[in-house]
Amino acid sequence: MSNSERIEALIAQMTVEEKVGQLGIFADALRPFAPEVNPEANARGAAEVRAGIRAGKIGALFNGVGAAEGRQAQRLAVEESRLGIPLLLGADVIHGMRTVFPIPLGEAASFEPELARRTARATAVEATAAGIHWTFAPAVDVARDQRWGRGAEGAGEDVLLGCAFARARVQGFQGQAGLTADDCLLATPKHFAAYGAVAGGLEYNTVDISEQTLRDVHLPPFKAAFDAGAITVMSAFNDINGVPASANRWLMTDLLRGAWQFPGLVVSDYTADMELIAHGYAADERDATRCAFTAGLDLSMQSGFYDRNLASLVASGEVTLAQLDASVRRVLWVKQQIGLFDNPYRSLDPAREADPSHLAAHEALARDAARRSIVLLKNQGAVLPLKKTGQKIALVGPFARDTKNIEGCWTLFGDRTRYVTLEAGVRAALGEHAQLIVEDGCGLEEPIDGGIEAAVAAAHASDVVVLAIGEPQSYSGEAQSRTQIVVPPAHQALAEALAATGKPLVVLLRNGRALALHGAVRKAAAIVVTWYLGSQTGHGVADVLFGDYNPAGCLPVSFPQDSGQQPLFYNRSRTGRPELPHMREFKSRWREVTADALYPFGHGLSYTTFEYGPAQLSTTQLGWDQTLTATTTVTNTGEVAGETVVQLYVHDRVASRVRPVRELKGFNKIALRPGESAQVSFQLDRSLLAFTGMDLVCRAEPGLFDVWITDSSANGTPVQFELCPPKG
Ligand code: BGC
Repeated sequence: MSNSERIEALIAQMTVEEKVGQLGIFADALRPFAPEVNPEANARGAAEVRAGIRAGKIGALFNGVGAAEGRQAQRLAVEESRLGIPLLLGADVIHGMRTVFPIPLGEAASFEPELARRTARATAVEATAAGIHWTFAPAVDVARDQRWGRGAEGAGEDVLLGCAFARARVQGFQGQAGLTADDCLLATPKHFAAYGAVAGGLEYNTVDISEQTLRDVHLPPFKAAFDAGAITVMSAFNDINGVPASANRWLMTDLLRGAWQFPGLVVSDYTADMELIAHGYAADERDATRCAFTAGLDLSMQSGFYDRNLASLVASGEVTLAQLDASVRRVLWVKQQIGLFDNPYRSLDPAREADPSHLAAHEALARDAARRSIVLLKNQGAVLPLKKTGQKIALVGPFARDTKNIEGCWTLFGDRTRYVTLEAGVRAALGEHAQLIVEDGCGLEEPIDGGIEAAVAAAHASDVVVLAIGEPQSYSGEAQSRTQIVVPPAHQALAEALAATGKPLVVLLRNGRALALHGAVRKAAAIVVTWYLGSQTGHGVADVLFGDYNPAGCLPVSFPQDSGQQPLFYNRSRTGRPELPHMREFKSRWREVTADALYPFGHGLSYTTFEYGPAQLSTTQLGWDQTLTATTTVTNTGEVAGETVVQLYVHDRVASRVRPVRELKGFNKIALRPGESAQVSFQLDRSLLAFTGMDLVCRAEPGLFDVWITDSSANGTPVQFELCPPKG
C-alpha cells in the first residue's frame, strides 16, 4: 500500500470522533511538564489524557519531556487505541534544549545563517533524544517595533536577514537525513502572520497593515521556511485588518494552500480559536470552532473547542465531512512524513537520552555561538580588549554573578547546572592570578543597601570597570511589551555613580530588544551588546572582553536615540520632507532627538579596522533579464585578524509606490588577516528589486537604483545603475 492509500484506508475506518481527535493538541500531562509558559486553560489531568488517547480522541501532546514517559504515552496510542494512530509530540524548543544557545535575535547578530543552522541541528539532536518530534519554532516574525517583547525570538527588523535565518533554522531542526530520521525535529514557522506588526508594539494587539507591506515584509520569511521544507505552521493571535489570523481564510486557505501550495498542517497558537470570542469575531465556542476550522485551521491547541464542537458542526452540515477529512488527511500526512506509522517509537529512546557523548561538542558550539552573537557598539580609546595581567578589573552589576538571566525567554528545558556565569567566565579567562573584584551594585530591578557604595569602592580600587546591566530576562518574550525601552532605573543610577569615579567604563548590556541608551550608559567608553547568550554566557563574553575572540556581530535591530522613536527601522519609506543635518524646521523630525538611529541596523565594531573600497558595477545598464555584479575590495587595515559583515543595500529612486530609503539585498561575512584584502561580489537581478505594486503584483520597475556596499545601513557612498525595460 502506498502512503496515501494507507492514510485513505485509515480515514475510511475512522469515526467522526476519532477524526476530531486527530485535530486537537493538549498539554502533556503524562510527562514532566514545563510550567507557566501559558495561562491555564482547559486543564486535563493525566487520567483524562490517558483515557483520551485510548479512546482515539487525542492525537498530539505538547510541552512534555522525557523519552521513557513518551514511550509509554505512545504505547497507549499505538497499542490501546482502536486504530493505533501514533501521537505527535510537540514542544517549544526555541533556542536550545539542554544546551542553551543565544536567543534567536542575538544569533541573528552573527549575520551567519550557517551558525543558526548548526545550533538548530544541535537543538534537534537533544530534543529528539528527549522524546520530542516537533518544535514550535522558528519564530520568523519581522519585528520593526522594539517595544514588542517577542522580537527576542526572531531575527530582527529586516526581511532578507529574516528569510536567511528562517531557512537556516528549518534546515537545522529538520536535518539533512530526511524527515523520518530519529534526530529530525519537525519545524513550525510562527506566528502566521504579521504578529510582529502589532500596533504600538503592544502584545496581542491589532494589526492594521497594507497588503503590500504584509506581502513584502512579513510573509517572505514564512515562504522561505516552507521552501526550506517546513510542513507545519502556527497561526498568530492577532487580527490582520479586522480578521483574526486564526480564522483568516484568505491567509490560511487562499494564500497558504492556494497560491503557495502548502501541503502541511496549520496548528493554532495556544487557545487562539477560543480567543476569537474575546476578539468579538465569534459569538460562542461553537461559532469560534466553525470560524477557525472552516478558515483552514487544522489543529486546535488546548482550548478543547474542536473536541467539544466539531462533531456537532459536522452533524449539522455546517462543516462538511470533506472538510473534516481534508484536515485529518493533512495531520496524518505529517505523521506519515516523519515516519510515525512505520516507527512510532522514533525519538523515544531512553538510551539515547542518557547518552552524554554530544555534550562537549554542543558546549563548544554554544560558546562559539555566544561570542559570534556579541555586538561591539562602541570602543572609545580602544579600552577593549582588556589585558589579562597588569590591570585591576571591577566586575560590577546585577548580572555579574547572576544565574537566572542567562538563558533568555522561552527556555523550557535548559540544564541550569551547566550555565556559566559572567564571573565564572571572567575568572576562567584570567586564571589564578586574577585581579578581580566583583560587586552586584544593585538588584535586578531595585537598588540594594550599600550596593552603589561597594561598587564605587571597587571601581576606585581598579583600573577599569566592567558593568553588566540591562534588561532582566523577564522583560522580553511573550506579553512583555514596554513603553520605555531603557535599562531599569536602579541600573542607570549604578552606571552614573560608577561613571563619576572617572574610571574607564565598559558596559555589557543584557537585552532582548534594541534599547534606548542614556546618560552614563550611552557615554561609556565601551558598549557591548550581549543579549542572552545561553549556557556558555560567561565564556563567550570573556572571549570578547579579553580579545581571545575578535567581535564581528552586527545589529539586526536599530538602537534608537530615544524610546519615543518606535517603531524605528532602517528600511523606512522615504518622506516628502526628510530631516537634513542643518535644517530641521518643517522637516520630518522629533523636537527632542534626530530621526536617525543611535546605532543603526548592521552596525558592529571589531578590534581591527576595515577599509571598504568603492563599489564597482559590472554594468550601469542592467538588462531586464540580466544579472549585474557589484564588487568591492575590503582591506583589514588594523593589527589583528578579524571578520566584517559586508552588506549590500539598494534603493529604488522613483517607483509607483514610495520605496524604502535602503533595503538589504545581500551580506557576506569575511575573515581577513592584518593587511589582507579580499574582493567581495554580489549578484543583483530584477527579482531582488521587485516589490508589491498597487495592483498587488510583485514586480520590479525599470529606472535608476542606488547601490551601497558597506558596513552598516547608515554608511557608504552609493553608485548607480539603471534597470532597463524589457525589450520589445
Ligand atoms: C505562544 C507560542 C507557543 C505556544 C505554546 C503561545 O502562547 O505564542 O509561541 O508556541 O504558546 O506554548
